[in-house]
Amino acid sequence: MNVINVDYNGMIPNNVGLNDDIRVRKALEKWHPGYLDWWQDMGPDGFQQALVYLRTAVSVDPKGWAKFDYVRMPEYKWGILLAPQVEDRKIPFGSHRGEKAWQEVPGEYRAMLRRLIVIQGDTEPASVEQQRYLGKTAPSLYDLRNLFQVNVEEGRHLWAMVYLLQKYFGSDGRDEAEGLLERRSGDPDTPRMLGAFNEKTPDWLSFFMFTTFTDRDGKMQLEALAQSGFDPLSRTCRFMLTEEAHHMFVGETGVTRVVERTCQAMKDAGIDDPHDIEAVRKLGVIDLPTVQKKANLHFSLSLDLFGNEISTNAANAFHAGVKGRFREERIKDDHQLESGTYPVMRLINGRIENQDVPALSGLNMRLRDDYVGDCNAGIGRWNKVIEGFNIRFQIKLPHVAFHRHIGEFSTIKADTDGNILADAEWEKREAEFLPSDSDRDYIESLMKPEREPGKFAGWIAPPKVGIDNKPGDFEYVKIM
Ligand SMILES: [Fe+2]
Ligand SMILES: [Fe+2]
Repeated sequence: MNVINVDYNGMIPNNVGLNDDIRVRKALEKWHPGYLDWWQDMGPDGFQQALVYLRTAVSVDPKGWAKFDYVRMPEYKWGILLAPQVEDRKIPFGSHRGEKAWQEVPGEYRAMLRRLIVIQGDTEPASVEQQRYLGKTAPSLYDLRNLFQVNVEEGRHLWAMVYLLQKYFGSDGRDEAEGLLERRSGDPDTPRMLGAFNEKTPDWLSFFMFTTFTDRDGKMQLEALAQSGFDPLSRTCRFMLTEEAHHMFVGETGVTRVVERTCQAMKDAGIDDPHDIEAVRKLGVIDLPTVQKKANLHFSLSLDLFGNEISTNAANAFHAGVKGRFREERIKDDHQLESGTYPVMRLINGRIENQDVPALSGLNMRLRDDYVGDCNAGIGRWNKVIEGFNIRFQIKLPHVAFHRHIGEFSTIKADTDGNILADAEWEKREAEFLPSDSDRDYIESLMKPEREPGKFAGWIAPPKVGIDNKPGDFEYVKIM
């Protein structure tokens, strides 16, 4: 079968020969109704009958894999798509480096692989749940469409992980696939597995920050799993990354447009001081210090997703050849890390210091460092906009010790520059660093839907170009 083109004949579009794989096809067909129930219950609230201008994958060829058309979300073709197999692929790192990549799960790594797949899988439906009410307050049809695109693709990412579980992990894989439909973001009894995926996404600035920072964590995890010696996981993640790029585009350009609108309004009103919050808010736009606080919140929550800085699990997964590093192939070392060190920022005798630890133990830290670098590139684009308006303000990533719940700094309080604060001091100053109730109330007051084609809410600028090069007044969502 041609792995580039996707077979749309069956119920589940795929390029994995599902028609001939009766056991797995049956298992997925059995899982499908539960998935649709979950989508109806926990997916976008309302809009299920709306015609949404969505892209659907019709191929896994990096050039032109998508086709755009109006689709009702419940009829979206959630398919199983793996990037083409690289012939003769070798395991690129770890103790099995240079051996042939595995097409089946090695018995000794079964539990480890299953856990990694379940954790990744759990984040996908979680974000759909978190974003479920945002449709009601979308600032334009363009944004509404982007939200739904992200949602259906996160749904597809769930399918991607469920396929691996059903195909390679027998009856425990089946149980895990059910579990993925049972947990609920933010539910005290059956929460999603990771902290950031149990937080609320109450407004559109949160959504843009989430897709900037938390989807970017997703990118880093997928990059590391795309290196995996378990070839089906590698191929799945490689294709997911092509979709993930759009999610980060939505986030980054979303914040860019918020910042642009704010700066334009300030300029029009002759306001130079970005810290004159009251004056800026009178213009009906989001002041830059509040944008900064939102960034502080979402960045710090996303850092927690990388786990402990020093981690035996990460070391074991690398040694096993199961989870690699960001762009492993570009790194110039032995790809086994039997020796060598990595500098890890730690809390030592109450002070934040760098310490060299064995490179294998510092892998989470390394992935997180790569993540921070990637985030900074995005933030640079926001600052370019502010600079263009000659406004003296720079959005900055907070220190990695700021507002942490996992790892070295979870036991301390620090400000955004990494100065350690006493608890009382933190309490006094928290609202300087993180959105306060009144910040949240203000943002909420702006969240009024705009549903006329080509119109945008007053707090956000229109995008530079349309999706699929459509004109500015294109009706991206036909609400029925
Ligand atoms: Fe995803
Ligand atoms: Fe995503």
